[in-house]
Amino acid sequence: MADFNDVVSRRKFLQGSFALGSGAFIAATIGPAKATSFLSGFNGISFNPVPANGKDTITLPKGFSWHKVASWGDPLWSGFDDFDQITRGTGESQEGSFGDNNDGMSLFDIEGKSILAVNNEYCNRKIIYGNRASGLPETSDDVRKGIASHGVSIFEIEKKLGKWKIKKDSLYNRKITGDTKIALDGPAAGFYLMKTDEDLTGKVAKGTFNNCGNGRTPWGTYLACEENFHGYFSSPSNPSASIPPEQARYGLKTKDKGYNWVMNQDRFDLVKNPNEVNRHGYITEIDPSKPQSMPRKHTAMGRFKHENCEVSISKNGQVVAYMGDDERGEHLYKFVSKGKYKKGASSNYDLLTEGDLFVAVFNDDGTGKWINLKESGMSEPEIAIFTRLAATKVGATTMDRPEWVAVNPKKVEAYCALTNNKNRGVKDNQPINAVNPRENNPYGQIVRWTPSNSDHASGDFKWDLFVMAGNPETAEGLYKGSENINKDNMFNSPDGIAFDSKGNLWIQTDGKYSNSGKFAGMGNNQMLCANPRTGEISRFLVGPKECEITGITWSSDKKTMFVGVQHPGEKNPDSCHFPDGGNSVPRSTVIAITRNNGRAIG
Ligand code: FEO
Ligand code: CA
Ligand code: CA
Repeated sequence: MADFNDVVSRRKFLQGSFALGSGAFIAATIGPAKATSFLSGFNGISFNPVPANGKDTITLPKGFSWHKVASWGDPLWSGFDDFDQITRGTGESQEGSFGDNNDGMSLFDIEGKSILAVNNEYCNRKIIYGNRASGLPETSDDVRKGIASHGVSIFEIEKKLGKWKIKKDSLYNRKITGDTKIALDGPAAGFYLMKTDEDLTGKVAKGTFNNCGNGRTPWGTYLACEENFHGYFSSPSNPSASIPPEQARYGLKTKDKGYNWVMNQDRFDLVKNPNEVNRHGYITEIDPSKPQSMPRKHTAMGRFKHENCEVSISKNGQVVAYMGDDERGEHLYKFVSKGKYKKGASSNYDLLTEGDLFVAVFNDDGTGKWINLKESGMSEPEIAIFTRLAATKVGATTMDRPEWVAVNPKKVEAYCALTNNKNRGVKDNQPINAVNPRENNPYGQIVRWTPSNSDHASGDFKWDLFVMAGNPETAEGLYKGSENINKDNMFNSPDGIAFDSKGNLWIQTDGKYSNSGKFAGMGNNQMLCANPRTGEISRFLVGPKECEITGITWSSDKKTMFVGVQHPGEKNPDSCHFPDGGNSVPRSTVIAITRNNGRAIG
């Protein structure tokens, strides 16, 4: 392996063009950033960046305040008790309460009401089963509680005395869990590999779980994105069963990962019900304005470990949805709908049921292209179910764990967070290349691309690295990070990214919070604000101990920014007490952030 630090130094970015070397990979980085203070008034926001820290609370710049909106276990209906710190709830109480580990979320304005839809990605077993000696689900009620702690919570919020709160008993309040019936549509619906004993039609799945990032459509629906669905399946009926290669590619194992839903639901046994797992790993569309409507899983958008789903409309009206597959060495995808978006048309609700699925190739010269998975030669249902296999067949670029994609509302360009990848340069299928330029990559980078013809439906694009995270204080060479990283804004593992309406890019991290060694000076997980034009990045928020920051949305007047704090105290729950303090159980929480002067925040 060539010493990459010799090949690519922290070179200055040739703004607006790609520097091409003969045979050398050139990582395009951004020009030097202003060091410590945000450009006053740029894109409608100014603040003094906050220093990294390891505190067990939220830190914000002066002039900004936060309050809690909803924590795991808070009831959505008045028939359910407040969270019980001792028992930590039951199956029944969890079915009526906000789920665990909130992640992607969107706020919808429906007839003047503020409706928040929030993914509850998974459950923190050490915490929700902290009342059990094993710290694991032991009884069937524990399993019921676990299943109800997953899915999507939808609830109205209202502002009272300046603070947003859950509006209990709103007609919009709804829980979609690991048990909710969900329609399957698209090419795989009804295919023989989708049929189970419980559903002979292959058209109605049960449950959605491990929804990570999210999306929203211009027609007012919410998209939940199933990520690590494999961890719920195992084969206790035959622990020595072999996993077929097309399923092994998704990480399926015969051993349960500790959720233990298979305890009382045979559908999670891979030997007894080999097709159940084919019904998970999709984008699920939910209409928050119709609480009785059945959610739909869109198989046309592919089955993989979805991160988020960033939707935009092409020049001719097609829906373009960008989607990352978050696993080391997996790929970046794009769905382009067959039909066209028409404002107010009921046909919009079917746009995600039919279209073409593409996967990205990043060339080392700063160009790239989208390859249609139909070129794999696989049938349409097979592409929908075994999307990863189709991507490999067409020669997709293996990436450093594609997390969220964000489309700039002010310019035709898109960004994807590549969070980190210890396999880069280590595994044969993940060689070092220009878009993934660092062996072992502990820090991550954000890639940006501009589609040709200024159209997200285009077949090719030009790309550069917007930022390479790193440590300019303790690391060497490329591991110092790009020019827009300095001792005051350093971070690792970018994950959630989203633009606000003014064109600022918000970056949320899910990384190492040891604050030592490679990660010294980075503190807890955090959220930063970036100026896409200059590359300048400033730290806006530091989260509490052992959390990740994930999920972001705004009130319709943009005066409140909602941010997710996931799994505070995930490793040492006894020494973390966010958000309630004292000796309380740490709980994943949606917070609201406002400016003390009452102005908009994004
Ligand atoms: Fe659930 Fe890729 O983070
Ligand atoms: Ca994530
Ligand atoms: Ca992550």
